[in-house]
Amino acid sequence: MAPRIIAVEPFDLVVFGATGDLAARKLIPALYHRDEVGQVPAEARIIGASRRMMDDAGFRAFAREALERHVSAAERNEAALERFIERLSYVPISAGADEGWPQLAALLGRSERIRIFYLATGPELFGPICEGIGRHGLAQNARIVVEKPIGKSLASARTVNDAIGAVFPEDRIYRIDHYLGKETVQNLMALRFANALFEPLWNASHIDHVQITVAETLGLETRAGYYDTAGALRDMVQNHILQLLCLVAMEPPTRLSADAVRDEKLKVLKSLTPITGDRVADLTVRGQYRAGANASGPVRGYLEELGRPESHTETFAALRVDIDSWRWAGTPFYLRTGKRLPSRVSEIMVAFRPIPHSVFDRSAGPIAANRLVIRLQPDEGVKLWLMIKDPGPGGMRLRQVPLDMSFADVFETRNPDAYERLLMDVVRGNQTLFMRRDEVEAAWSFIEPILDAWAASPEPPRPYTAGTWGPTSSVALLERDRRTWHEEA
Ligand code: BG6
Repeated sequence: MAPRIIAVEPFDLVVFGATGDLAARKLIPALYHRDEVGQVPAEARIIGASRRMMDDAGFRAFAREALERHVSAAERNEAALERFIERLSYVPISAGADEGWPQLAALLGRSERIRIFYLATGPELFGPICEGIGRHGLAQNARIVVEKPIGKSLASARTVNDAIGAVFPEDRIYRIDHYLGKETVQNLMALRFANALFEPLWNASHIDHVQITVAETLGLETRAGYYDTAGALRDMVQNHILQLLCLVAMEPPTRLSADAVRDEKLKVLKSLTPITGDRVADLTVRGQYRAGANASGPVRGYLEELGRPESHTETFAALRVDIDSWRWAGTPFYLRTGKRLPSRVSEIMVAFRPIPHSVFDRSAGPIAANRLVIRLQPDEGVKLWLMIKDPGPGGMRLRQVPLDMSFADVFETRNPDAYERLLMDVVRGNQTLFMRRDEVEAAWSFIEPILDAWAASPEPPRPYTAGTWGPTSSVALLERDRRTWHEEA
């Protein structure tokens, strides 16, 4: 078995947007954790870059505060933290102008070591930063990491991809979808391809339908500016949820190499039945939360949080998606995501078809079809719902119980954050869990007609009360097909 921690080569990582929210919440903690377990070699350097005027000491203080805020005290080790902080340096830089670039070039020098640029910035800076990297001769053999959103539409995604592609070849571009770094998402591949049990059943003959739910309890938080221009379909469905759908629906790749996996995912995206014209109203639901309550008390509605009386941006989206393929014809995939829902839960539920014939008499009770639930968060794990006999005398009574595997119980190790794995994959040059350009664009091609139809509709999104599972039309979307959303108490 491969060791748990695979040592990586020395690297220089330049983080643009180093004083922003993503760097503080995710990147700095992820790098610290990898350093703490000994994966980061002694010579590795992390260089922060952003417009803010700051020196190394200022950036180190910023990073220390980020770690104190976003890494629990139990997971902080003072000696490791000091060692990590020592690796950090900072260059104030102006993406579109010349300021700061000569200093960055001098710092990087002519070293042969792995060089990575991480753009934790808004997408409007991707082009200017790439151009700056190219203009100052820093791109040779370097890798670039970009965050979503990659565009707001197919055309703008192409523009962003062209700007990055003008400086970096595709095999050195790492488009992050942090859902692909989640442990359970990769377990989906293990479950499907390392077990003989599921794959023979993994098709329309045996699977009735699939549900993918990504529910959040949070509202807008501090992201109103971005979120109101995006909405749930762009923010969650175009990327994270379609990526999950691909991993459930794809054919087994010939091997686990980046392109073999991404070729299979692309085929799924290209075989999604387009949702256009009248079908948009039938197969999609968009909602927006109104004031309500969650576990910690009353919460405001979206428009109040936004501070504007009117916005048609959706905070909830549900879709019925069909796949035109031999494997999946007749098996719909229902997708839903929303903010201010009753609980934070991300899961994939695979509903098998009912048994063809029952040998039991009515007193045994109803026989529910088997369900496989792959839970991404919280309490990651896998549950297989089976029918068993209720124990004890009294005849044959049947009951549905889960075969329940919680990863926290089985493995007593800390579950690394998605960014830890993804960052180290970039250093190791492994693109398997990153989106290729054609995947991103195929996902936009599917989403765009829905966005256009919604934008053209005079109807506002359907309201739902914060703390509920979205508008009633989301329930109706499944009821029409005689199905219900899977919700465990
Ligand atoms: C981000 C979205 O990509 O994913 C956010 O922009 C969302 O709106 C977040 O809250 C959810 O990520 P996670 O890992 O907390 O499920």
